[in-house]
Amino acid sequence: MHVERPGIAGQMGKRVLLIVTGGIAACKVPELIRRGRERGLALRCVLTRAATQFVTPLTVASLAGEKAYTDLFSLTDEAEMGHIRLSREADLLVVAPATADILAKMANGLADDLASTLLLATDKPVLVAPAMNPRMWAHPATRRNVERLAADGVRFVGPEEGDVACGETGPGRMAEPETILEAVAAMLGPKPLAGLRALVTSGPTHEPIDPVRYVANRSSGRQGHAVARALAEAGADVTLVTGPVALSDPPGVTTVHVVTAREMLEACEKALPVDVAVCAAAVCDWRPARPAPDKIKKAEGAAAPVLELAENPDILCGLARRERARPRLVIGFAAETEALVAHAREKRRRKGCDWILANDVGAGTGVLGGDRNRIVLLRDEEDAESWPEMDKREVARRLVAEIARALAREDGR
Ligand code: CTP
Repeated sequence: MHVERPGIAGQMGKRVLLIVTGGIAACKVPELIRRGRERGLALRCVLTRAATQFVTPLTVASLAGEKAYTDLFSLTDEAEMGHIRLSREADLLVVAPATADILAKMANGLADDLASTLLLATDKPVLVAPAMNPRMWAHPATRRNVERLAADGVRFVGPEEGDVACGETGPGRMAEPETILEAVAAMLGPKPLAGLRALVTSGPTHEPIDPVRYVANRSSGRQGHAVARALAEAGADVTLVTGPVALSDPPGVTTVHVVTAREMLEACEKALPVDVAVCAAAVCDWRPARPAPDKIKKAEGAAAPVLELAENPDILCGLARRERARPRLVIGFAAETEALVAHAREKRRRKGCDWILANDVGAGTGVLGGDRNRIVLLRDEEDAESWPEMDKREVARRLVAEIARALAREDGR
């Protein structure tokens, strides 16, 4: 009986370079290869020296139906297939299991064996399935490396919580083969937003008081940057207009850096026309009306200066209420500290946007500047869909899935 598996379309014949590093989770690699081939993937495998202690090249080669590679300086391998070709001929590189050691090498651009050299020599997407002791995963060095790799565009699947081989409990188990293959499918599968253009605003704005001081807010840009990246991963041609943030530009996204609300508005207008606009920036509602050309000095006995403020343009509202070149879908966020849904509903109406993602940014929620977010999505007057608390990257992926569904419905696809 032939059973159709979800996510198979678009993957048949795709070439995956599977890099196996040395951890006990390498014992799951044979199952990963077997199930990957059932899904129609062509797998070519590379093992580090440590990996060969846990799974043999012969096992891996027999299951993959292709020679397994282990050595950077093998004369025969080099004669048959230059090592750079191994990554050039792949559609995707998967590192499973990925030890703390390979993550450190990748994050720092080291290339001292075949696996790390291939990872440095590639411009293909990379998926990593970490597996290690929970303390190693929690160590600040690993945290730094993971953060760095995510900013470089590397995708992660797992690790999962549970008992690990050394008898401890916590996050560190490699994701199950089926979960890894789902992540592979998402990366290789069809791009639902291919051919569409998107605009995203992100971060705070800085409004100058004088050349050294400014008015701003606590936004980190994490949510907006994650949305831009998820839209690009779904195939959209994305322009991200960002205020000052301490984040790297997301890979595959045209990023425009601005400082003030008025610069943000101008950059957004330049990016039009787009199919979808997501305004995640925490734009300053007001700016000092007359920024001083020189640093304001303290004068002996003088009163503290009083700032006169002028209202900034509302970018979301401007996009939603355009008569010409209005994006088909205009989405805003509502940052609230009380009466979340009521205020967000009123904001959606007032600004004229199609959807609004309400989030509670009150003190103690850790949302502004943090990694996690809890959303209530309002798509019309009645609807209020509460999402569980999740990582901002997951919020972005879920939002993009909703956008893809809505635009496909509109296009009758
Ligand atoms: N927004 C914008 N331009 C502004 C102010 C806000 O584009 N000048 C957008 C934000 O990007 C967000 C939405 O409007 O998508 C709501 O922002 P929020 O700060 O929650 O609301 P405000 O309009 O600032 O209203 P209030 O301060 O009264 O809550």
